[in-house]
Amino acid sequence: MAGKYSYANYDAFRHEVLAEIRREAFGEDVGQFSWITAEEYRGFLKLLNVGLTSVMLDVACGSGGLSLYAASLTGCQIIGVDLSAEAIQTALKAAQDQGVQDRVRFFQQDASKPLPLDDESVDAIVCVDAINHFFHRRELLAEWRRVLRPGGRFVYTDAVVVADMLRREEILTRSSRMGEFIFTPVGVHERLITAAGFSDLKCEDVTATIAATASRWHDARAERREAVVEIEGSEQFEELQRTLAVASALARERRLLRLAFSAAKPL
Ligand SMILES: C[S@@+](CC[C@H](N)C(=O)[O-])C[C@H]1O[C@@H](n2cnc3c(N)ncnc32)[C@H](O)[C@@H]1O
Repeated sequence: MAGKYSYANYDAFRHEVLAEIRREAFGEDVGQFSWITAEEYRGFLKLLNVGLTSVMLDVACGSGGLSLYAASLTGCQIIGVDLSAEAIQTALKAAQDQGVQDRVRFFQQDASKPLPLDDESVDAIVCVDAINHFFHRRELLAEWRRVLRPGGRFVYTDAVVVADMLRREEILTRSSRMGEFIFTPVGVHERLITAAGFSDLKCEDVTATIAATASRWHDARAERREAVVEIEGSEQFEELQRTLAVASALARERRLLRLAFSAAKPL
């Protein structure tokens, strides 16, 4: 069962100090609640060939920051789905504030369940740093194949691909308070994507992004410790600091990789 995703502080933009930390961690803050940089995301949109006439499905869209960025950058239509009702409410409000509510649709649902979308109704699917919350990947990929039009492409990132030995404490810290959380060994994604009938599989190693983002994020928070503790309390502050330190170290040592996978539905 998918659990609550508890580190996402969808209010982060309301506090200037948290906004400052985000700018330091990400460089360009496009409302991401993941490890991704704006540059990496623009690369994904290019790979997906998203443009003015495209409909893009964002699976586990969080509070919609990346979806809305894609809509404004390319003029595409967006369908965003996320398990968190709070995230979806934030996304809907942001769409209204940005005046793009006619081009975006956000809804709350466990995205491992069948989606209320017609067959072959989307041109592209993106899923950033969330595939690790889905255990039943065969069913998930079959559903993506159903809703994608022939020739349509998906891209997803997995930030916790196991490439080497991990200590129990590292596993627990890396996954703490995040609900359903699956560590996937190297090679499994390729096997599942191919078995699901997708073609033109591409895999990019984007581990360097997590190593850099996590350590900048950790340090930016540490520098503003007092102000952040005031907002989130010392227990959550320390826990997130430990998670960020472990995420950065495991990526630097290349024991946990962050990989981006993309493939197309055959014509
Ligand atoms: C790391 S965040 C990524 C959010 C967004 N993709 C981004 O990059 O900003 C992971 C997201 O996965 C969502 N999630 C977890 N399990 C899910 C599920 N079963 N169905 C839909 N969304 C889920 C969480 O609510 C959270 O918003």
